[in-house]
Amino acid sequence: MATEIELKRGLQGVYIDKTQSSFIDGTEGKLLYRGYSIHDLAEMATFEETVYLLLYSKLPNQAELDAFDAELRANRAIPAEVLEIIRLTKDAHPMDVLRTAVSATASFDPDTADNSPEATLRKGIRLTAQAPTIVTAHARIVQGKEPVAPNPNLKQAANFLYMLFDKEPTAAEARLMEKDFVLHAEHGINASAFAARVAASTISDLHSAVVSGIGTLKGPAHGGAAEEVMKMALDIGEEDRAEEYTRGILESGGRVMGFGHRVYKVEDPRARHLKAECEALGMERGQPKWFSILSKVAEVMEPYRARGICPNVDFWAGAMYHLLEIPKDIFICIFAMGRIPGWTVQVMEQHSNNILLRPLLLYEGPMDLEYTPLDQRS
Ligand code: SDX
Repeated sequence: MATEIELKRGLQGVYIDKTQSSFIDGTEGKLLYRGYSIHDLAEMATFEETVYLLLYSKLPNQAELDAFDAELRANRAIPAEVLEIIRLTKDAHPMDVLRTAVSATASFDPDTADNSPEATLRKGIRLTAQAPTIVTAHARIVQGKEPVAPNPNLKQAANFLYMLFDKEPTAAEARLMEKDFVLHAEHGINASAFAARVAASTISDLHSAVVSGIGTLKGPAHGGAAEEVMKMALDIGEEDRAEEYTRGILESGGRVMGFGHRVYKVEDPRARHLKAECEALGMERGQPKWFSILSKVAEVMEPYRARGICPNVDFWAGAMYHLLEIPKDIFICIFAMGRIPGWTVQVMEQHSNNILLRPLLLYEGPMDLEYTPLDQRS
């Protein structure tokens, strides 16, 4: 008797390995990074602390944090050749430039060919530090301006905004950006982490895995949603148009960006932190309309909650970035900058107890056809 084959399309609900990096409970809306609640980390931890926790499996003491922070600050520079490649690819989408620049950076990293845990850790720290330099250099070149060199006196989030705007951010702006990076740092075996693990499972290196992650994250079904949500909000324009617009998407069988999740069937626990910041920033900047428009969209989507379709991490992020005057096309790069530590952790876990990730496809095509030589084919 033929073995009954159960297809698990999209690998829905399939556990492929064990992890100690993050715990996600999609029915409770719970997220822990190495046992610590995302709510505590978002409200009380710095990005540097969070990355240290993910990479070293413990919260740092002051001395450890200072040393780690210094290591990140010391590794922000990118090779001149990579900056040249950024200039040459200036007309590409920022995520394509980030993917290309990370790939090129591998040619200049002394540890590229070394897959030891120590080397992978060093590379992950370097890429975490370099990504904002790559993204902001491109953003400024696109605007016809010169890149701004990293400021060693600023922490990661503040330095990102500084390099983007050539102006030191306020403490509040820097804290907003930092919270966003913390919320995006790690999320288990999401599509981009899976892509990174597949690369790592062939014993490939971290740069290749991160390039795979960036390419995967770019899709609007994954990381590209924040940009799409802001485009939707701009398209809606005014709060009183939000209901008709949202219903229009739904009635046409479309997807409302920033809603739904493969795992969370209640609200994504990260969303509330960005929702609060989006509202506060909108009031502070005299632009409450974006929060009002998105709140109306969320109101229209409320009935979908019963089907497990709730706001996810991307729903409020885009409006917050817009209020910070960050260019829309680099919203997704912000997600990638936050997620490089998560990808690094997933790669290190994969390498530490590796098995090649190679699922099966159920073949439905013809079988055992006879080959007809070319001169006999009609
Ligand atoms: C991230 O995996 C991760 O952890 C990712 C992430 C991370 O931190 O790495 O959390 C980050 O990627 C967040 C998601 C960002 N993407 C979006 O906001 C894009 C819009 N969302 C959808 O495309 C969708 O919800 C997905 C892709 C996120 C999840 O899709 P699934 O799990 O494959 O579910 P599905 O597409 O099979 O939808 C199930 C049903 C469908 O209805 P039916 O066909 O069964 O009638 O729910 C409906 C869908 O039509 N649905 C939506 C919807 N999302 C799902 N309907 C309207 N709007 C939506 N957004």
